Amino acid sequence: MTTPRLEIKNIIAGYGAGLVLKGVNLELQTGEVMCLIGPNGAGKSTVLKTVSGLLPPREGQILLDGEDITGQTPKANLRRGVVHVPQERSLFPGMTLWDNLLMGGYLIRDRKLILSRIEEAAHLFPIIRERQKEHAGSLSGGEQKQVELARTLLFDPKLILLDEPSIGLDPKSRRLVFDAINGLAKAGRTILLVEQNARSGLAASDKGAVLETGVVRIVGKASDLLENPEVAKLYLGAAGKNTTVKAVSEKAKEGRS
Ligand SMILES: Nc1ncnc2c1ncn2[C@@H]1O[C@H](COP(=O)(O)OP(=O)(O)OP(=O)(O)O)[C@@H](O)[C@H]1O
Ligand SMILES: [Mg+2]
Repeated sequence: MTTPRLEIKNIIAGYGAGLVLKGVNLELQTGEVMCLIGPNGAGKSTVLKTVSGLLPPREGQILLDGEDITGQTPKANLRRGVVHVPQERSLFPGMTLWDNLLMGGYLIRDRKLILSRIEEAAHLFPIIRERQKEHAGSLSGGEQKQVELARTLLFDPKLILLDEPSIGLDPKSRRLVFDAINGLAKAGRTILLVEQNARSGLAASDKGAVLETGVVRIVGKASDLLENPEVAKLYLGAAGKNTTVKAVSEKAKEGRS
């Protein structure tokens, strides 16, 4: 068996006296996309924080390619290729796209390397070349998300953690963002994403997991979760759209299996 890209083993974590994660276990193979869904306050963002190092867990282990990275700092993990894109917009609105990209690469000393990675990122996200001189604040929410995703590529990431990438976006921008996520996956990046838009999130993913009150209740193939009646009832809104979703899901993943 190959070593998983990411193993989250029995993680217990919380803030102050409060316990949020009560023994979380998840596993992702290299190149896989996993979508984490669940109610508000379940601990989804907290899972991402324990992986990136923003919140050291109280117990349990995080393994990246078999290496124990539990409790490492976000900076150390970034150097290892673990990139966390938070829910909030993180571009500087008054700065140009280009400067935002350069700022994103502040940990990388080698300017040639930064420029070559921006060049590579532009293949997947043409917007960063086309609108490089514009202020980030002049882009739509979906366009800004694309730039944030493009910026992760400066770190040649092994693992990208995306917290609600489609939140607050109109359907068209949402599609752009999910297409971009599929593009990243096709390029061999491993992605753990959290989504309120469970249907679109699962449709763009290989695996899915439902987190409730700090525990993983269901985990499996994303296509199975989309057809699971319990998941459908609680997280997918109106029932009866599964056939369409499955078709969309297959289309979204075309060519990357
Ligand atoms: N910095 C913090 N300090 C104290 N409590 C926090 C902090 N961040 C989150 N919490 C609490 O931890 C619990 C889980 O929060 P978390 O943000 O992980 O949930 P979530 O599943 O991402 O929810 P949402 O869907 O609303 O984003 C919540 O009860 C929240 O209030
Ligand atoms: Mg959250």
